[in-house]
Amino acid sequence: MAGGRARVAVSILDADHSNMAHAIRRAEKEGADRFHVDIMDGHFVPNLTFGPKMVAGIRPRTELPLDAHLMISNPLQFVDEFLEAGCDSITFHVEVDPAQIEPTLVAIRKAGRAAGLAVKPKTPLSALEPYRHLLDIILVMTVEPGFGGQEFMKDVAAEKLLAAREYLSHKPVGAEIHVDGGVNRESAEFVGGLGVDILVVGSVLWIKGRNMGREIRLVRALADEGYQYRLNNGKPPIPRDAMVTFAQLPKHLAWLFMAEIETGGIPVIPLRGTGQFNPDGVRDYDLLVPASAEAITTERHAADRERYLAEAASWREAYIAKHGVKPPDIQRPGTTGPVPPAAPTHPRAAGA
Ligand code: DX5
Ligand code: ZN
Repeated sequence: MAGGRARVAVSILDADHSNMAHAIRRAEKEGADRFHVDIMDGHFVPNLTFGPKMVAGIRPRTELPLDAHLMISNPLQFVDEFLEAGCDSITFHVEVDPAQIEPTLVAIRKAGRAAGLAVKPKTPLSALEPYRHLLDIILVMTVEPGFGGQEFMKDVAAEKLLAAREYLSHKPVGAEIHVDGGVNRESAEFVGGLGVDILVVGSVLWIKGRNMGREIRLVRALADEGYQYRLNNGKPPIPRDAMVTFAQLPKHLAWLFMAEIETGGIPVIPLRGTGQFNPDGVRDYDLLVPASAEAITTERHAADRERYLAEAASWREAYIAKHGVKPPDIQRPGTTGPVPPAAPTHPRAAGA
C-alpha cells in the first residue's frame, strides 16, 4: 500500500479486452491502488464497453477495490446487477434522468458501498447540490466521457476540484474526489495541488513498452507533491491509511467513547494494545482514529476524553476498594506459565 495521500485508480478501458485477467494481474503487480471500470452503453456516450459480467469476472482476480464508473442512461435499471457483481463503489452521472438519481444513490448506500456522482466538463457542480448528503464520491471529468487518450482539460480541473471538496465537507473521513480524463505525469501535480484523492489513469499505462509501475509511482508522488506545496504549507501529506491512538480506556468506557465518536462519521478501531493494566488485570484498549481525522476528533472530543479519563480513574479506585488488585500477568492473553513481573504494570497495581 502506498504511503502518501494520493491514490491511483487504474482504468482498464484501454487494456487488452481479450485478456483482462492478465491486465488486472499486471496492474496490481505494478502497484495500482484500485481499479476503475468504465461502463458505457452507446447511448449516454457514443461508445460501448462492458457490463456487470465483466465486473463479476474481474472481482475474484484481485483484492483491490473496484470502482464502477457508469456512463449509462439508466443507472437505476442496472444498479443491482453492478452491486451483485461486487463493485466497492458505483459512480454514475448527474446528467441522467433526475428521477433515477436519488433512488440509485440510496440503493448503493443500502448495499454498504460508496456512492458517487460524476460531472461532465460542461456540467456545473451545483447540479450535485440536491444529492450532497447521499454522496461519498464526486468524480470530476476532465475530458468528455466516452474515450481514453483525450487531452486533459486544465480549466475544468481548476474550476471544480477544490470546490468539490467543499461539497463533501460534511464527511470528515472517507469522502473522495476522483479526477478522470487525461491524467498522467504532466497533470498529476496540478490536480494533487487541488486536493484530489483519487487519480484515474488510463491510456498512458497501457502504451506498449511503457513502464506501468514507474508511471503509477510518478503520478502518485507528483500528486502528493502538488498537495504538499500548494495546499499544505509545505508539510508532507498525512498518509491516507495511517491511524493514531486518540484515547486509552478500560473496555467498558472505550466502547462507549467509540460509539460517541463514530456518530460523527469518524471510524474508530479499538485495539487491545499498549495501554496500562487495570486492577481487574485487563489492559486499557487503544482507540485508533485515522491520522487525517486526528485534528477534527480532538476538536470535537478533547473534553469528552478528559471526562472519560476521569471516569476511568474513579472506576479503578472503586474496583480496588471492592476487589483489591489482580496481578496483571495472570490474565495477560497468550501466556501459559508464570511470567516474570518485569512486564509494564499500572503503578497502582505494582504497588499494591
Ligand atoms: C473516459 C473514461 C476514463 C478513461 C480515462 O470516458 O471515463 O476513465 O479511461 O482514460 P485516460 O486516462 O486515457 O484519459
Ligand atoms: Zn472513467
